[in-house]
Amino acid sequence: MIISSSIINANFLNLSQDLNEIKKANVDWLHVDVMDGGFVPNITLGPFILPFLKKQTGLPLDIHLMINNPEKHVKSFADAGANRISIHVENNPNILRTIQEIRELGVSPGIVLNPGTSPGTIDSLLPFIDLVLIMTVNPGFSGQKFIPEMIDKIRFVKNLITKSNDHVLIQVDGGINSKTVKHVTDAGADVIVAATAIFGHPNGISAGVNELRQSN
Ligand code: DX5
Ligand code: ZN
Repeated sequence: MIISSSIINANFLNLSQDLNEIKKANVDWLHVDVMDGGFVPNITLGPFILPFLKKQTGLPLDIHLMINNPEKHVKSFADAGANRISIHVENNPNILRTIQEIRELGVSPGIVLNPGTSPGTIDSLLPFIDLVLIMTVNPGFSGQKFIPEMIDKIRFVKNLITKSNDHVLIQVDGGINSKTVKHVTDAGADVIVAATAIFGHPNGISAGVNELRQSN
């Protein structure tokens, strides 16, 4: 299981210390939740933060764009050091063009499905992407409750990938904790995103990461 730690609720007054702990806890990737106040009802961070995250941790940067017109911004994230960029299929009529652009920029492309979006048509995108992110909460905020109905969607997408023979990772994001993690990995998830379970753990960041690994 690959753990991508969302920095959305790190302590920004003490970011370098939190990042050192994340690194020590052997998290695999850093997940950066980018929100524009339009695609989702919240606003977070832009590309400026990426060089700091990279300098402090050296970890792969996994960028989740929850923004309208992602095609306008993929280059700035690539230039700032993104290793992976995932874009939503919703409100995105020319998604393949943007996926190809991400690839041409030397970054690994992924697509994201909101909880209300059917995975029925993603098979035509599988040859072009490296990752499918299945949202297990409605995007916009950390600390929300896992939507259990998404387990079937994970299984469905896993089947599509197996049939297509494409090497595509399944990532899940939202409400992943020691109680939900095993359900999603059993259903086929390869990568989990977690914010609250790591940064909100009462015994600290390392304890949060260890608990996720032990619960899997
Ligand atoms: C939601 C974000 C998630 C979220 C994860 O829009 O994409 O990355 O913040 O937070 P937790 O782990 O608290 O559900
Ligand atoms: Zn995310």
